[in-house]
Amino acid sequence: MIPEHAAFETLAVHAGQEPDEETGALVAPVFMTSTYVFTPEKMDRYLSGDKEGIFTYGRSRNPTQNALQQKIAALEGAPASLAVASGMAAVSLAILNCVHHGDHVLSCHTVYGGTHALISKVLSEFGIDHSFVEEMTEEALNRAVKPRTKVLYFETVYNPTLAIPDIELLVRWAKAKGITTIIDNTFATPWLFRPLEHGVDVVIHSSTKYINGHGDLIGGVILGQADFIDKIRSGIYQELGPVPAPMNCYLTLRGLKTLHLRMRQHCENAMAFAEHFSAHPLVEKVVYPGLPDDPSHENAKKYFRPGFYGGMVCIVVKGGIKEAQRVIDNLHIAHYCVSLGDLDTLVEQPATMTHGKIAPEERLRMGIPDSMIRVSLGVEEIGDIIADFEQALRRLEG
Ligand SMILES: Cc1ncc(COP(=O)(O)O)c(C=O)c1O
Repeated sequence: MIPEHAAFETLAVHAGQEPDEETGALVAPVFMTSTYVFTPEKMDRYLSGDKEGIFTYGRSRNPTQNALQQKIAALEGAPASLAVASGMAAVSLAILNCVHHGDHVLSCHTVYGGTHALISKVLSEFGIDHSFVEEMTEEALNRAVKPRTKVLYFETVYNPTLAIPDIELLVRWAKAKGITTIIDNTFATPWLFRPLEHGVDVVIHSSTKYINGHGDLIGGVILGQADFIDKIRSGIYQELGPVPAPMNCYLTLRGLKTLHLRMRQHCENAMAFAEHFSAHPLVEKVVYPGLPDDPSHENAKKYFRPGFYGGMVCIVVKGGIKEAQRVIDNLHIAHYCVSLGDLDTLVEQPATMTHGKIAPEERLRMGIPDSMIRVSLGVEEIGDIIADFEQALRRLEG
């Protein structure tokens, strides 16, 4: 048994992975099965309501999924967790667990595009009302709140502006009104920030990103109090069916074992990258919460692991959409694609990709200039990444 107060690094390696009782296998086996055979004794126990440790059907639970849930719960400091098929499944289930027809969801207009579409299109078709505020200030929230507001939904780090809200203020505001807070902690991970310790009710992750960290699966996780997670598990999870494949749970478990090592490197690389390009003649601006003059620097210092500011950096190239595109097209190491949090450095252009459907003036108001390039720093040697961007930027001069 791992000591209860073991360090993050120890929990990352050991939590959820007691050696297999029957075989002694050190690494949690992958249980590739859709159903489980009952013995008469097991069936009697099950029918009497004693379901502890009994597996019945893969849509309900799977031992590899259980192991993953234990590890991520230990890392987030959460009483309970549920691993699901994608980040969007985690967002959907967490919100749906709080609302009924006629209720209202309050969020910020910069939330992840999929979440924005879920709230504004899908949920509204089912009679769930919503408001998006431009800034999560007390005044804006007071103006937008309604008698049937049930959820305040926000993200630790907004994308791609990398703004960090004052989370304790949001929690205080919501608690005073009996509103459930749900945070998407994908960009930070529990290594940088553990929202439940600051009073947030529910944490979700797209484990597709840093949690798994290797870019080889889609997954999600919901963390919170046991009654909240139990209600999802025995209700909408069971009936909607967004079950994670056992193999994906195994890969995520393996990925989590190095979360602390990867995050440290992502953050160190991001800091070096941000500092280097802050003083570059072809770069108008660098957005990174680790820079002392960044608007979110104080909140990053207040909430994040001391000295670390995340693995995402945005650079605004001098020029417009075309110039940013030319830089991207000339990169040799960094890959041009959506997603983030992989071992490989990934870049995307918000104005043409993630935020391409938003009008340019609206984008500017959101803090997203046309020539912004979002960079998810990988764990490569940072000198190579900086040199890659240097040579791509120099092409603008020719
Ligand atoms: C912050 C954030 N939350 C949620 C999601 C959705 O996750 P998934 O793609 O795993 O469904 C994403 C995907 O990019 C994301 O960036």
